Amino acid sequence: MCGIVGYIGKREAKQLLLSGLKELEYRGYDSAGIALFQEQGIQVFKATGKLHHLEDKLHAVSTQGLTAGIGHTRWATHGKPTELNAHPHGLTHSYVVHNGIIENYVALKKQLASTFISQTDSEVIVHLFEQHLNKGKSPTTAFTATLADLNGAYAILLITEHCPEQIFFARNGSPLQIGFSEQGLFFASSDAPLVGICQNTCYLEDGQWGIANAQEVLLFDTQHQAVTISTSPLPASSITAQKEGFRFFMEKEIYEQSTVISDILMGRLQAQHIHIEEISPDWLTTYQSITLCACGTSYHAALTGSYLLEQLAKIPTNVAIASEFRYRNPVLNPEGLLIVISQSGETADTLEVLKLVKKQGIKTLALCNVDNSSIVRLADKSLLLRAGIEKGVASTKAFSAQIMTLWLLACYWGQSKGCLHGIALQKEIQALEKTHQVLRSATSVHDRIHRLSKRYLHGHGFFFIGRDIFYPLALEGALKLKEISYLHAEGYPAGEMKHGPIALADAELFTIALMGKSRLYNKIKSNVEELSARDSTIIAIATEYFELADDLIKINAYTHPMLEFFEMLIVVQLLALEIAIRLGNDVDMPRNLAKSVTVE
Ligand code: AGP
Repeated sequence: MCGIVGYIGKREAKQLLLSGLKELEYRGYDSAGIALFQEQGIQVFKATGKLHHLEDKLHAVSTQGLTAGIGHTRWATHGKPTELNAHPHGLTHSYVVHNGIIENYVALKKQLASTFISQTDSEVIVHLFEQHLNKGKSPTTAFTATLADLNGAYAILLITEHCPEQIFFARNGSPLQIGFSEQGLFFASSDAPLVGICQNTCYLEDGQWGIANAQEVLLFDTQHQAVTISTSPLPASSITAQKEGFRFFMEKEIYEQSTVISDILMGRLQAQHIHIEEISPDWLTTYQSITLCACGTSYHAALTGSYLLEQLAKIPTNVAIASEFRYRNPVLNPEGLLIVISQSGETADTLEVLKLVKKQGIKTLALCNVDNSSIVRLADKSLLLRAGIEKGVASTKAFSAQIMTLWLLACYWGQSKGCLHGIALQKEIQALEKTHQVLRSATSVHDRIHRLSKRYLHGHGFFFIGRDIFYPLALEGALKLKEISYLHAEGYPAGEMKHGPIALADAELFTIALMGKSRLYNKIKSNVEELSARDSTIIAIATEYFELADDLIKINAYTHPMLEFFEMLIVVQLLALEIAIRLGNDVDMPRNLAKSVTVE
């Protein structure tokens, strides 16, 4: 994770770097720092915690006339979130900002035998660079020699007093791009800091490196051959999300889900059939199987999608967690399709899976919320999620958008294959059309959840249980609660509880039972009875009175399971939100997390 920015131009760099970092704060908020070229040397400022601490520190500092520098916002991987571990890291003459992980940093530290100030892996970069300089190499050769020493993933910006007003840069596995503007040259980890300032951007490829000054950029490949810079246009203005009266972005995003769902369906439901412009029926029906791959919440969407694709499109479907899949030497069906799912489009493990699978010649489809992200650019085809900017670190509306897109895709696939037609297809279309209403009315339960939440601020754990499609929802409910309340929660298939976890049951174990009436209702009822018999406190999310429930959150009864799914989704999201707010947590930027996970 971490976000990096750089600027060389005519304007004062401090404010531009800080504004850029603000846009990247979602990538980590453990500390932030900037380094600026000044007449004699390089000046560095760092602060722990969120960016506003650095802004406060810099408030009274005059940096007029300093028009080049680099900046970093950190999500700690190696070393605690302290000021010493904050980037930029440097020796007297050179400073570096880094996003990624240098895997051989321990061995490199031993070789270098110099004194390290921080516990980070990143600091070795600047020590290596200075060591190469001390051996008489030119700055450019010292930089390439440094890159050759590194194993792992990196996006690097390095500045040195030996080359005033120049930035050395390199990318391998972590995103980095150059922004071109009349105001100067920018570097950033994503589009966000560049939009509205730069007209064009160049997305660097793995292995590329270079040197830039205000007038020109020299770009090279791994063989040190010059590369012609190719650029893509950037939007003229950025859309900034506002809280619009809600207490947190996450709360607003929960409420936005109904609109997002309508946007996803726009132009895709046509007179009794489904049409997805981006994908032709012929393309879809060539595939014999599907592998879905993702991380975190997106993985939960993938798991839900596997139920839908098998049930509606009758196609064999596997689901895998990207960080596991990439290292298990997967045996892939050459006739199969890989679908990766990602809100950000930058998740390192998901991106690596995409690369690995593409190398084997297998076709890929990305479901992603961010256009122009690394995943979208790499996949053979992509379906954008249409969820809009998601600011809350805990994903909500992107999850709904992923589920809705997968459901739509499953129906489209079934329709294209001819296995979903007639009344069955119409039933799906009607349910798809009704979903936005369900999501809108589901928020009426908010007050009740607010009142109920005060009873669930303690205990030794929560078990979210469900069956069929309500099982991935249980996983998601537990993840939401963990992320923002810091209470221990697990999602479990209800039928599995008796195979071990039921040993934990007592009055302080809170079972949140997702009791969808439309799928395996009697089965989950029995599973809940087993837990209740062992005195677990039961919170039932159900369509009807359930005598064993200590608390009941009633949802509407629907014949279509996906409508129950979406109504329950709102309940579990609001429950996590209300518990976290009562506990006084920062819901939008929970501790230890970052919105975009760009390290493995
Ligand atoms: C969701 O609440 C999480 N913050 C996290 O699990 C997230 O879904 C995961 O990191 C994957 O991110 P992506 O969708 O951007 O790839």
